[in-house]
Amino acid sequence: MTRGRFITFEGGEGAGKSTQVRRLAARLQSAGREVVATREPGGSPGAEAIRNLVLKGDADRWSPMTETLLMYGARRDHIERTILPALARGAWVVCDRFADSTRAYQGGAGGVDPAFISALETHVLADVRPDLTLVFDLPVEVGLARAEAFAQADGHAETRFESKGAAFHERLRRAFQQIAAAEPDRCALIDAAAGIDEVEREVWRTVERRLVHG
Ligand code: TMP
Repeated sequence: MTRGRFITFEGGEGAGKSTQVRRLAARLQSAGREVVATREPGGSPGAEAIRNLVLKGDADRWSPMTETLLMYGARRDHIERTILPALARGAWVVCDRFADSTRAYQGGAGGVDPAFISALETHVLADVRPDLTLVFDLPVEVGLARAEAFAQADGHAETRFESKGAAFHERLRRAFQQIAAAEPDRCALIDAAAGIDEVEREVWRTVERRLVHG
């Protein structure tokens, strides 16, 4: 059986990734593919338990280094229990955030040494690397306003990172832009300020061009 495909969605707060993950999963399913739609931190029972720890509480509850280690603990469990079994049976895995989020949040914006994060990638990810990464880009103030609206709807349950301040989010945006520019074969920058349907069309065009007909 051929290995499935691994697509990740990345970007700052309020970019609308979760909606687009659901829409892409539905399109791929109607094209006859088995799809596993998942997210990080989370995506397996153990990793969801770590998510609960890391996304709740005060902004300074964990240092960026501790966050890195928690994210990688969660990621390893997610890879072993969800991602690898799905890819092995030929499914397409569509994941809301993955390793680039650690590079950008804990590395670029949080100040953790990029060499340390690269070492974790080498040892923990091994050969589990995305075939395609869609990097959602939008102005920080637009994203934070959208994120605040979502947070009000769910009672501010998971707002640790949103509350880190504007300078953090500007560094974060630059870090994601730099990742996309440095790895153009893997990454595509998506204008996430556009309307939901337009973003969906752009995502689908990119997936078709890079993976379906690629
Ligand atoms: P979200 O995907 O619902 O936006 O929530 C996940 C939050 O966790 C988001 O604020 C980004 C943060 N995060 C990191 O800081 N590092 C990581 O490696 C991952 C996967 C997420």
